[in-house]
Amino acid sequence: MDHFLYRDGVLHAEDVSLAEIAATVGTPFYCYSDATLTRHFRLFQEALAGLDHLICYAVKANSNQAVLRTLGALGAGMDVVSGGEYRRARAAGVPGARIVFSGVGKTQAEMRHALEHGIRQFNVESEAELHALSEVAASMGATAPICLRVNPDVDAKTHEKISTGRKEDKFGVPIARAREIYAQAATLPGLQVVGVDMHIGSQLTDLAPFEAAYTKLADLTRALRADGHQITRLDLGGGLGIPYARSNEVPPLPLDYGAMVQRIFGDMEVEIEIEPGRLIVGNAGVLVAQVIYRKQGEGRDFLILDAAMNDLIRPAMYGAHHDIVPLDQAAAGAEALPHDIVGPVCESGDTFAKARPMPPLEAGALVAFRSAGAYGAVMASEYNTRPLIPEVMVKGDQFAVIRPRPTFDEIINRDTIPAWL
Ligand code: LLP
Repeated sequence: MDHFLYRDGVLHAEDVSLAEIAATVGTPFYCYSDATLTRHFRLFQEALAGLDHLICYAVKANSNQAVLRTLGALGAGMDVVSGGEYRRARAAGVPGARIVFSGVGKTQAEMRHALEHGIRQFNVESEAELHALSEVAASMGATAPICLRVNPDVDAKTHEKISTGRKEDKFGVPIARAREIYAQAATLPGLQVVGVDMHIGSQLTDLAPFEAAYTKLADLTRALRADGHQITRLDLGGGLGIPYARSNEVPPLPLDYGAMVQRIFGDMEVEIEIEPGRLIVGNAGVLVAQVIYRKQGEGRDFLILDAAMNDLIRPAMYGAHHDIVPLDQAAAGAEALPHDIVGPVCESGDTFAKARPMPPLEAGALVAFRSAGAYGAVMASEYNTRPLIPEVMVKGDQFAVIRPRPTFDEIINRDTIPAWL
């Protein structure tokens, strides 16, 4: 459920008309709903109630400071994958004790910074990283709390590019070698084993792969404890999917996911961490754009929008589906005809949807891409020297620009000209 509904004939974000925001900030822009963000975070809290747990929001999904602050204030921890994300989480007021650091390529500088400023745990993904972290921590006289990310060799049955738990994927250490690597970790200076980590992929629409992976994780935890390791926490990763096409997909709810987690880990006396990103912020955001032209093509009409692949890369990159709806409810009810919905960027990949049934909108009409809160703004670029688009947050009847649109001068003046020119 989200808080983007038609009211008085216009799509609203909570109590604010998206058309009114468009008139104030211009199009295109991203708009997030505080109430949806909060609701989705609470769904996970309810799902894991009764278990000692920490929900570490995956910052990569949407790293705007306003989003991080909203979630941080609700008690969220954060899962970061770079020194930049670590700094963002800290700037948003999240204490180091609630930040976990994931990723296959942490540099020693990133490790040092996190150790200096406070970290809950590093999710270590290789033996090489284990040695690097040990070296850094020991040289600082510090102790780095670690979980080893294990790769369970389970197919998450999601898009190829976001599946991470099969043995051919670059993530984690093979689960079959985990005991041996934990034994090594226990002998290295500067490290303290605290748990085990896993993340098998994103946009999972079935619980079965999670269950298969978590069952292996529970078995491994018992074996590691028998080997003498203090396994006090398990990080289960993120990945629960959202319904992108309202018509057909019905992914499992956080409550179903939580029940499965409780069944597998409930009696293990272990703290559970999860790292959801998309489910918290995906449906809490829309991208609003304007039709620049309607153009007749061969056997189809094109709707050319002022948003493009540089603003929302998911359709071009993963063939992802986003529902696209007119802001004007009367238009939304008109007879739909197949349209190709495209942006102004000079390549054919700049296509949001092909043969999508849409009412025949004219230039100036406003549309909203639903489910654009996750992996939208964060993956945007300035390709074609198109400024990064503004982000807006709505709470009740208020809205605030949480990242303004840069000026062309700001963009152009970032370049520096060598002395010989
Ligand atoms: N934890 C780790 C270690 C991850 O790598 C990810 C996502 C998450 C948590 C959060 O997963 P989520 O709950 O959001 O599914 N750009 C792609 C998605 C990439 C996901 C990468 N890792 C997209 O637009 O679909």
